[in-house]
Amino acid sequence: MNTVAQARKTSAADPSQDLGYCTFQLGSFGFRRDEYFVHITWTTRDGRPLSHTMDIGNFLRALMRDVAWGFFYGGVNFDDVIGTVNHYKSVDMQAGAFNETMKESGVDLLENFPVDQIRDVFEKMLDDWTNEGFDPFAAPLETGSPYGRKHGNNTAAVTRARELAKRCVGLKDDLKLRSDERGAPVNRSFADVPQNEPELHPEPGFENEVHAFNLFAFLSRSQVTWNPSFTSVVKHSYMCPTTEEHILPILHSNDRVEWFFQMSDEIQWNCSDKNTGKPLARVIMKAGDIAAMPAYCRHQGFSPKRSMLLVWENGSPNLVYEIQKGDAPEIPVQF
Ligand code: PHB
Ligand code: FE
Repeated sequence: MNTVAQARKTSAADPSQDLGYCTFQLGSFGFRRDEYFVHITWTTRDGRPLSHTMDIGNFLRALMRDVAWGFFYGGVNFDDVIGTVNHYKSVDMQAGAFNETMKESGVDLLENFPVDQIRDVFEKMLDDWTNEGFDPFAAPLETGSPYGRKHGNNTAAVTRARELAKRCVGLKDDLKLRSDERGAPVNRSFADVPQNEPELHPEPGFENEVHAFNLFAFLSRSQVTWNPSFTSVVKHSYMCPTTEEHILPILHSNDRVEWFFQMSDEIQWNCSDKNTGKPLARVIMKAGDIAAMPAYCRHQGFSPKRSMLLVWENGSPNLVYEIQKGDAPEIPVQF
């Protein structure tokens, strides 16, 4: 029955189990890991058995984002073959459905699952397959190896919760900014980021109402990479700054326009058609550059040195349907 997510130990002949790992089933998709790889198996649309292999580190980094972001906006592609599509009340798991060659060959498969079911399988898989010493949210230079037989776990890292500000970072009784108070030291790449705070001159009586903080100082202390946080929310306008190093572990197919403001250093983006994977553009963003990603593209960023990026999202729950009906544009501006 393909609606029951199972975390099952399989027979003794299962090589994953010999290595200490669980094997997982999500509908028609099977997931098995060994020392270096994940092997995903399915029966193709036209009835043939097929499999796909990914480096386990890349897979776990992508899985971590998909789980932590609640399947994000639109499509989260783990690579050119597999990924998920968020319909907000349900989620598709797909293999080859957005790969023109596989689609034309009839070897793709897409299945829809209730959010709870796919989340449950993904969370268990992430926890079981993440070994002690490997943090999928950390930059590769700042964490250990994902490889080998099962040894220990890193449940604390794969279940870390977002720190939520109640009103504003630094306000009395809200999130602490300073490292001595939060245990969040300045990252090695941001040693030159000034840590001074803005001057505040509230009228007497308004000291607890008026506030400001140094966003760059705050970001310089981020312990994770490629993980946008909601720093300001005004109606459906979400400002989501993040620190980036190495490769965005997913290729994101948004279902709406999204803006990038490169606040420091440089990120190189590969953009391609979200349905076929055909390359569309290379976008080289340097500090101060702003770009918009149209809703028809998928994009993956490469950050040679840790950098600061502001992602600006329109979080309106109706937008995806307005775009589908043609009532809202797929592009940010018509010249
Ligand atoms: C994106 O897909 O637009 C994205 C995701 C995570 C980031 C930055 C950008 O950290
Ligand atoms: Fe995106």
